[in-house]
Amino acid sequence: MILDRLSRSSGVARWCACALLATVTAFAGTAPALAKRAPAPALDSAAVAVADRYSAQAAEQILRAGGNAVDAAVAIAFTLAVTYPEAGNIGGGGFMTLYVDGKPYFLDYRERAPQAATREMYLDNKGKVVPGASLIGGRSAGVPGTVMGMWEAQRRFGKLKWKQVLAPAIAYASDGFEVDEQLQSRRDKAHAEFAGKTNFDAYFSGLNRGATFRQPELAATLTRIADDGATEFYTGQTADLIAEAMRGHGLISKDDLAAYRAVWREPVQADWNGYRVITAPPPSSGGIGLVQMLRMKSDLAPAFEGVPVNSPKYIHLVAEIEKRVFADRAEYLGDPDFYKVPVARLIDPAYLQKRADEISPDHISVTKNIRPGLDVSALGVQSGGNADVAGSMPEKAETTHYSVVDKWGNAVSNTYTINGYFGSGVVVPGAGFLLNDEMDDFAAKPGVANMFGVVGSDANAIAPGKRPLSSMSPTILTRDGKVALVIGTPGGSRIFTSIFQVIENLYGFHMSLDGAVAQMRFHHQLLPENTIFWEPYAPLDGDLAKQVEALGYKLQAQSFNGDIQAIQVEGRTATPMADPRGRGVTLIVK
Ligand code: GLY
Repeated sequence: MILDRLSRSSGVARWCACALLATVTAFAGTAPALAKRAPAPALDSAAVAVADRYSAQAAEQILRAGGNAVDAAVAIAFTLAVTYPEAGNIGGGGFMTLYVDGKPYFLDYRERAPQAATREMYLDNKGKVVPGASLIGGRSAGVPGTVMGMWEAQRRFGKLKWKQVLAPAIAYASDGFEVDEQLQSRRDKAHAEFAGKTNFDAYFSGLNRGATFRQPELAATLTRIADDGATEFYTGQTADLIAEAMRGHGLISKDDLAAYRAVWREPVQADWNGYRVITAPPPSSGGIGLVQMLRMKSDLAPAFEGVPVNSPKYIHLVAEIEKRVFADRAEYLGDPDFYKVPVARLIDPAYLQKRADEISPDHISVTKNIRPGLDVSALGVQSGGNADVAGSMPEKAETTHYSVVDKWGNAVSNTYTINGYFGSGVVVPGAGFLLNDEMDDFAAKPGVANMFGVVGSDANAIAPGKRPLSSMSPTILTRDGKVALVIGTPGGSRIFTSIFQVIENLYGFHMSLDGAVAQMRFHHQLLPENTIFWEPYAPLDGDLAKQVEALGYKLQAQSFNGDIQAIQVEGRTATPMADPRGRGVTLIVK
């Protein structure tokens, strides 16, 4: 059943007849909603870049059955929930940026705080954040949005039947899949974190390299969702099982589930370097951060002139830009349904020019002098301040991203998450899926850092029904109205700084897509002070490290800087690229 000839990176997958194909094509004769239009193909092939081979295989089956990019994206989401349980999910949430029939869309299916959540729920009686309380166990979980998000996207834009796009995931859950070494090693780390605290081991102790891992409870849950749609998850037996799991352990109620809605929002859009950047709006900070970085870098063109990529001067200039972006992020960003985020002002070219003009090519700015740049006193935002969060980088990564382009030129860029790998560590008994620990993305206390070392303000304080601030930035670039790049990555606060670097490598330094993705990446986020995070992949070491330190920076190692899944489209050719840092694969379907 396993398609074993998918190539890593920009290879072409060859078709293999298998049991899953039979399952999928069994539905193929049934009334595709948009098939009437049948526009002529705009591209020579469809392309996919995704975090594992099983989801690529699912996407191939859906595309060959006549599905479009949205059908493939939904099939991937459900498959990753089975075969990539560290981050793929139905117990979390995410963002989808779409370009369909020449128009941009954005779907927010981020988790929401339960109605019983309170602003100070993670503080002890001395007002201090209780370590781990927002990261492990049922109280760290927000109301999941993934199933509603996939339902909304597929219902609005899909061509195939809902059941058809869930079929591959159900087959993997009931028949099993072969466990990869990386998955076992991530499971081992999670075991150390969750042992004795959650029911994680009872479900995932069988995730051993080379073993076939079957999930009958999850297969039954997915079958119910396939039969009855999203309503089953939010008001049916699955909702009962979630509410039961929460009893005495967490806050999510049946009312919370029944009230959950995904929201179609206006994407953040900006013209840059001849491209239209279409990316995530609040409650993501990522789209605004990405546009701020791209525009400030353009404003600093004279300072960057002749500066090689990843040279000490390049790292310094980018870090200075990042300082200002993260100062704004901490102050102004939160759920737009609760707080009026000044989006237009934050990406206004004149504002960004002013911020860029403060940057010296030769000297590091004093951290405490870098303040948020807008005057929004009328909005009554309470400052998060520049807290001391030295050494706060987590060792674990999280989240997953995939990109899809179909032969009609439609594109989906989807990032979704249960936050830390394996989320809260809580599996819903009887339903077989993990719940997220997304509540950690709120500012548990203004000025105190979360798992990613980033601070927040009132804009991102906990409130019932609110969505926590995210950095997820599923992004699409178009040129002359046609898709040019589909890109995204996991990485928490590293997400948009990673995407920025790949876009600059590609269009600023004119690298090939694989070169642009494989380049060393670094990260700075205002706090900890003057600290550049670097990665073991293509490390910043030797002379380069000494030169960066000589400028006044501290270097801090991190285990991970993203897992980019990107597709570049040039003319009629779509070229996918999976980050060599992960176990992702690419696929071209002629
Ligand atoms: N949980 C990571 C993010 O949403 O950015």
